[in-house]
Amino acid sequence: MNEEKSHFETRAIHAGEMHMADPGSHVVPIYQTSTFVFENTEQGARRFAGEEPGYIYTRLGNPTVRVLEQKMADLENAEDAVAFGSGMGAISAAFLQLLSAGDHVVSIKTIYGCTYALLTGMMRRMGIDVTFVDGTDIEAIRSAIRPETKVLYGETPANPNMAVLDLEAFAQLGRESGIPTIIDNTFMSPATQRPLDWGIDVVVHSATKYLGGHGDLIAGILVGSSDFVAEVKEDVLKDVGAVLGPFDAWLLIRGLKTLPLRIARHNENAMAVAEFLRDHPAVAEVHYPGLPSHPQYRLSQKQNHGGFGGMISFELSGGIEAGRKLLDSVDLCTLAVSLGACDTLIQHPASMTHSTMDEDQLRASGIGPGLIRLSVGLEHRDDIISDLKSSLDAL
Ligand SMILES: Cc1ncc(COP(=O)(O)O)c(C=O)c1O
Repeated sequence: MNEEKSHFETRAIHAGEMHMADPGSHVVPIYQTSTFVFENTEQGARRFAGEEPGYIYTRLGNPTVRVLEQKMADLENAEDAVAFGSGMGAISAAFLQLLSAGDHVVSIKTIYGCTYALLTGMMRRMGIDVTFVDGTDIEAIRSAIRPETKVLYGETPANPNMAVLDLEAFAQLGRESGIPTIIDNTFMSPATQRPLDWGIDVVVHSATKYLGGHGDLIAGILVGSSDFVAEVKEDVLKDVGAVLGPFDAWLLIRGLKTLPLRIARHNENAMAVAEFLRDHPAVAEVHYPGLPSHPQYRLSQKQNHGGFGGMISFELSGGIEAGRKLLDSVDLCTLAVSLGACDTLIQHPASMTHSTMDEDQLRASGIGPGLIRLSVGLEHRDDIISDLKSSLDAL
């Protein structure tokens, strides 16, 4: 789809879509099939040899999944995309493609708990070393680079302390050092942040979150250059097999059509909730990149558009005990992990999403015992605020 002709909202609806000529299905069909029939043995052999385009087997490609991939590539301003059965499927595929025994990764220190567990567990077991550094300090990232460093990894805003990484500086460091940069864009989605526009090489998503948007599926996406995506499909997806099913791909295609509308509301609601929390006496600190008090507020203004995302984390003056009371007393807000759904979700990272880290690791990653994470939903903002207010007032 020609980007110069169409706005993001239009591309979210039209990019990658196909209409079936016969019988003229308007919406992309769900090709709920494991395999595809060949006309004869010669055609089968040609498809396997890559001499004829066409589908073979859904682990290697599926028309519904392909529409999703093309739409996501378009929205992230990437050459191509590949879908996975989960966000961790996409993240692990990027590492598996780029790393071998003896290699080294520099990662920012505050990242999603399972990504941290993957880097410190399985990757180390496979002979890959990792150094964690403060993602807000580009010089610390530079200093951690070694001759064997093969990946620079970041998440922004970071899960869950909302620290913001300078995408342009990170990409430039990667270019200068000849090291690929990977960014997890789950927290923002391409409606608010497009890391490839700043020079980042690879973007990964938990599509489970804002991309799907309705909390009803698990999926992942990786976007990047055509060559890299082709390598990941051929070398990792085909043989490791964290494939996305056609029905979940179809739900994602449907979700993406309303992404710009949903994100606009998530962003507006989160801003209002962050301002409310900042002014409430029971709240000690609010981490939201849209508040001028956030240390990287100016940077967020530069690299985000249309708002500052729907994720907030905050600490209560009463610490962990007050946090427990809050989580157990909210009514409209749902006590659940995950994010980016229609409803507001509230959780406690230290005992939930980041429980893969021990106390020292949590402290080093800036995740306090009293930190609470909120995924602000699409309800009326007054109702979200009133629910939080009655629980906070009671502390
Ligand atoms: C920032 C981030 N990245 C990756 C993931 C993993 O995604 P999935 O659960 O789809 O595997 C999550 C899940 O919460 C996440 O929050």
